[in-house]
Amino acid sequence: MKINIKEIPNEYSKIGGAIVVFSMQNDDGYEFRPPAVKLDEATGEALSKAAASSDFKGKFGQMVEILAPVGVAASRILLVGIGEEAKFTPLKAEQIGGKVINKLMYSNEKDVTIVIGKHAAHCAMGVLLRHYKFDKYYTTEKNIKKISVEQVTILTLEAKKVAKEFKEFEKIADGVIWARNLVSEPGNVIYPESYLEQIKELESLGVEIEVLNEERMEELGMEAILGVGQGSASETLMVIMKWMGSKDKSAQPIAFVGKGVTFDTGGISLKPGAGMEDMKFDMGGSAAVVGAMKALAGRKAKANVIGVVGLVENMPSGTAQRPGDVVSSMSGQTIEVINTDAEGRLVLADCLWYCQDTYKPKFMIDLATLTGAMMIALGQDYAGIFSNNDELCERLTAAGQTVDEPVWRMPIGDGYDKLIDSDIADMKNVGGRYAGSITAAQFLQRFVNETPWIHIDIAGTAWRQKPSDVAEKGATGYGVRLLDQLVRDHYED
Ligand code: BES
Ligand code: ZN
Ligand code: ZN
Repeated sequence: MKINIKEIPNEYSKIGGAIVVFSMQNDDGYEFRPPAVKLDEATGEALSKAAASSDFKGKFGQMVEILAPVGVAASRILLVGIGEEAKFTPLKAEQIGGKVINKLMYSNEKDVTIVIGKHAAHCAMGVLLRHYKFDKYYTTEKNIKKISVEQVTILTLEAKKVAKEFKEFEKIADGVIWARNLVSEPGNVIYPESYLEQIKELESLGVEIEVLNEERMEELGMEAILGVGQGSASETLMVIMKWMGSKDKSAQPIAFVGKGVTFDTGGISLKPGAGMEDMKFDMGGSAAVVGAMKALAGRKAKANVIGVVGLVENMPSGTAQRPGDVVSSMSGQTIEVINTDAEGRLVLADCLWYCQDTYKPKFMIDLATLTGAMMIALGQDYAGIFSNNDELCERLTAAGQTVDEPVWRMPIGDGYDKLIDSDIADMKNVGGRYAGSITAAQFLQRFVNETPWIHIDIAGTAWRQKPSDVAEKGATGYGVRLLDQLVRDHYED
């Protein structure tokens, strides 16, 4: 879909297709924005009449649709409430953009024109993100619910400035949508080798890619990640992405690390059959990292950023790892694998250690669909964060508020750490029934030294059961915008 940004014209009567105009809510009820006033005049007060005959109050998200209005070229006018003007924030504009496109997407209209004076680029971002649908595997007429809208024109004040702002947003949306696509693809399409081929597309944006294959990982002593992939026919891979966008290419980088379990059956500790298909999303952390790399490179962020993802499939087979097996790790620490389904932490252990050891980053943030317990604790709105650094947490929390990918800090500490001590090795990979998300984080922390670090458990936020204002149900691309915003706020030249 194409989005154009143009200056607000003097009149609207010649615009075809669907026109969207806004109304605020004030103490007396609704109050049309000037474009709505003009269209009202041009249509013999069709908007006022429609508003009066419905219970339109200009409340945020309220809509009245006027079909085939007289006096104008438009085939329909959508009057949309934005609530109180003072509360109309950039995020609200984004939500409105999403709501509008959701309303019109299947309306048979090809052209949509949105007239918006404030936060127009954010509104356009909402349109882009909500317009997405993963429908590539539908082939029959019955399944293909055709999206009719081909072009959205945003009419706004200072169009040039808005267009410039939106150009950056578009690059971020590219990253989000790529992440959603990767997460939506099934396990027979995205497995480590095919995933790597996808990631290589980043090279065209100037991202350098390095791959550690099984042989190299063996040399490095990465038994933790290798053990997870031992039962799979696919080769386990660790992929490193480097975006050196800072003026000083030798400046200390920041680093993002992602769990890329392309399918998680649980291994020999096999998951129950019901719902197992959802575990194609178990590479959601890595998708957030590669999506963020795409966004950052796409908008040429002035920062040095390393992305590390561990790509592996967790399968049961004659060669699979057994419960009770003891493996070493690149760090040298040994792990008793009590449960082969707690594999994400084994993958991240070697990724984190390698990243810290090789790149000495300013900080590391890892993302992972790590524990079912995270969904029990926080549901699907907030991701849980676990960290050894207050300042970094404050920064990430603020970034999350800005882009509506919120995070909530959870505790970690010695008491929890003891729960993963093992009788026969340095640690075990599960900590019992209580505090499942925290003991998983404690495990990760054992592979982080003094480096400031945050672990984000996105088990609840990577996939939505219901659509939101800016995302169809399914893969959300959660994390891409969060990481981009953090970089934008604090880590660019
Ligand atoms: N990928 C899962 C976590 C998960 C489960 C995310 C359900 C979203 C929904 C992870 O590898 C896993 O299986 N974790 C286990 C850990 C347990 C064995 C300690 C879990 O959460 O049940
Ligand atoms: Zn698992
Ligand atoms: Zn998993």
